[in-house]
Amino acid sequence: MRPEQVTARAPGKVNIQLSVGRLRSDGFHPLASVFHAVSLEERVTARRAEPGTGVVISDITAATGIDLSGVPRDDTNLVVRAAHALADAFDVAADADLAIHKTIPVAGGMAGGSADCAATLVALNALWGLRATSAQLSTIGAQLGSDVPFALLGGTAAGLGRGEQLSTLLTRGRFHWVFATSTHGLSTPAVYGKFDQLAAGRRVPTPVISPEVTAALIAGDPRRLAKGMRNDLQEPALALRPGLRRVIEAGMDSGALAGMVSGSGPTIAFLAADDDRSVDLAVALSGSGVVNAVYRAWGPAPGAKLLEPGK
Ligand code: C5P
Repeated sequence: MRPEQVTARAPGKVNIQLSVGRLRSDGFHPLASVFHAVSLEERVTARRAEPGTGVVISDITAATGIDLSGVPRDDTNLVVRAAHALADAFDVAADADLAIHKTIPVAGGMAGGSADCAATLVALNALWGLRATSAQLSTIGAQLGSDVPFALLGGTAAGLGRGEQLSTLLTRGRFHWVFATSTHGLSTPAVYGKFDQLAAGRRVPTPVISPEVTAALIAGDPRRLAKGMRNDLQEPALALRPGLRRVIEAGMDSGALAGMVSGSGPTIAFLAADDDRSVDLAVALSGSGVVNAVYRAWGPAPGAKLLEPGK
């Protein structure tokens, strides 16, 4: 029997490495990215709806400090688009009630919208009894957003192309992160646009995955990993939000091994030496007066999956 209601979770991410090439003719940039899923997650609960109801978002809730004002509740929300894309691919009626719970900062460079999308695909696959494979969900997800395939996969992975060509990377142990958020999000296309502006007249190398980063991940060595962290979107994000430099400085002054813009920002990701240091760092940053909210998380976290009923 098919369930009446299912809940799926999906992780946020930080790009330990984000190397960006020159703009392609399709409007996207070629990437070499090391994606790392973290324990901040989104949950989507999907409930059966009467035939003909369509896809409805009945509720959006969030952890303290998450600003929901920029999250659309209509058909433009990625979860509604994900539901329609899945229903179309399997030729079933798109009727469902969706409730979203967010713990990933909105428009923060941590792929919260992509995680919503991945959780929706996994939840509706179960609710509608579709038996779609991971590969099928990933192909559908890639059309909805560049980071959706990784939110489905989780762990730590090298991403090429737009970021959708993924291969899992070996890692040892856990890495401990502190994320400092800003009050206002940054638009991903605007940050890529600034990248293009800054890249004009410069040599832009073809992006490749850093061997230093993959070696540090295998060794489980946060100090070594900190030395390899790099994000080509940091310069454009800082150009658009110069105040973020002070956030990076505050974290580095408080013992972070590295501090970097997460994805397209404006969230700043700090790598801590261990769990205890991440607590110290989070406390120091909270009291620094230069950040909006601070979240601790560990990685690598698993990809999108169903929660057992009752959890
Ligand atoms: O795929 P996604 O919806 O996340 O992309 C949002 C925007 O970010 C794209 O429309 C594009 O402007 C930019 N982008 C890019 N190159 C990528 C990924 C995203 O230029 N590899």
